[in-house]
Amino acid sequence: MASESGVTVRPARSEDLVAVSQQYGSTGDTPWDPFASPERLEKIPREGLLIAEKDGVYAGFLYWFEGRKPWFDKGADQYAQLEELHVLPEFQGWGVAQRLVDHFLRDVSDRRIPLLYVATDETNQVAARLYETAGFRPFLKTVHYRKYR
Ligand SMILES: CC(C)(COP(=O)(O)OP(=O)(O)OC[C@H]1O[C@@H](n2cnc3c(N)ncnc32)[C@H](O)[C@@H]1OP(=O)(O)O)[C@@H](O)C(=O)NCCC(=O)NCCS
Repeated sequence: MASESGVTVRPARSEDLVAVSQQYGSTGDTPWDPFASPERLEKIPREGLLIAEKDGVYAGFLYWFEGRKPWFDKGADQYAQLEELHVLPEFQGWGVAQRLVDHFLRDVSDRRIPLLYVATDETNQVAARLYETAGFRPFLKTVHYRKYR
């Protein structure tokens, strides 16, 4: 059912994968980044891939997965990682990301997953606000090193 803003969120179907990878871009974080190609995207578990539409038009996606014993948080066990969240520029500011995050929170609650993680650049204030409003709190910072030769 559409909300007042016309934004709906649903699990992804095969036919969404082209739109997802087109939005993500073909470069990716690594040469084998699954989101950079619909063929690679076909091969990853799809339960965590959520699609947002505004008035029936593709607007963005969220991807999460469930894991055990995260290397970056000693002692933790079952968790969910919100791995990707992207809204097309023309649909930003309409609460699309908010609806995707709400849907993710309901899914992990239904599965009784006790611990959630998400990471973003410290410069991404829109994302930080979104995650902090959802109840996330910073707990670990990663440093990106760079060296010119
Ligand atoms: C971050 C991103 C997902 C937000 O999507 P969105 O659909 O525009 O976000 P929403 O409309 O749900 O807004 C969420 C909050 O951010 C605020 N916001 C949205 N766009 C904003 C902007 N350009 N400037 C300031 N605040 C903004 C909203 O007002 C809202 O805050 P509120 O709940 O206090 O009102 C989107 O900007 C994006 O795809 N960016 C590129 C990819 C990215 O950075 N992903 C997240 C990193 S992991």
